Amino acid sequence: MKIVLASNNAHKLEELRAILSTLGMDVVPQKEMNINIEPNENGTTFEENSYIKAKTIMDACGLPTIADDSGLMVEALGGEPGVYSARYGGESCKTDRDRLNYLLKRLEGNENRNAKFVSVITMLTPDGKKIVARGECPGRILDAPQGANGFGYDPVFYVEEAGCTFAQLPSQEKNRISHRARALKIFAETVRRERKYADK
Ligand code: IMP
Repeated sequence: MKIVLASNNAHKLEELRAILSTLGMDVVPQKEMNINIEPNENGTTFEENSYIKAKTIMDACGLPTIADDSGLMVEALGGEPGVYSARYGGESCKTDRDRLNYLLKRLEGNENRNAKFVSVITMLTPDGKKIVARGECPGRILDAPQGANGFGYDPVFYVEEAGCTFAQLPSQEKNRISHRARALKIFAETVRRERKYADK
């Protein structure tokens, strides 16, 4: 079954492909379907934005579509940057590194470094089916970046379970414990359960 990914982010594509291929799903990024639309992510929750992305791209391609909306929530900042993770710091932050530095500045002198990454996966099909799954990965924000893998806030996100930052993990390891991996695991369980019922 072909399923369109409402994103062109290579990291997300890799993570989703690895897990969804085990369900017989062939994930194709939207640009391979010649869809260059950028959904208007004006929701206030990961669930809303995940739905907006999946719906916009499904309406454009007419095929089952999957979307991930994800971000970092920092306890001492009341959950910021949250759904604004990709746009944190506004116009003055142009790169992932700018946004990461902006986050460190906001947290300067703050001892509470608790944070979590959140991912909400939404799959929609043209015949009206909807599956939503949420995954979270707890961690804490370091004072300075460590590691060169991954993307976004990975170099400052320390995960106890791994004993290092996301950016210090090989991608297979990150893809085993990440927020997206956790959401995808729940998603895959739901798909398998529904298929089992449909076979009865
Ligand atoms: P989205 O593409 O609209 O879901 O935005 C997600 C944003 O959250 C990214 O641009 C990153 O800033 C951040 N983010 C989400 N997942 C990760 C991750 O696995 N590592 C690092 N940053 C992430």
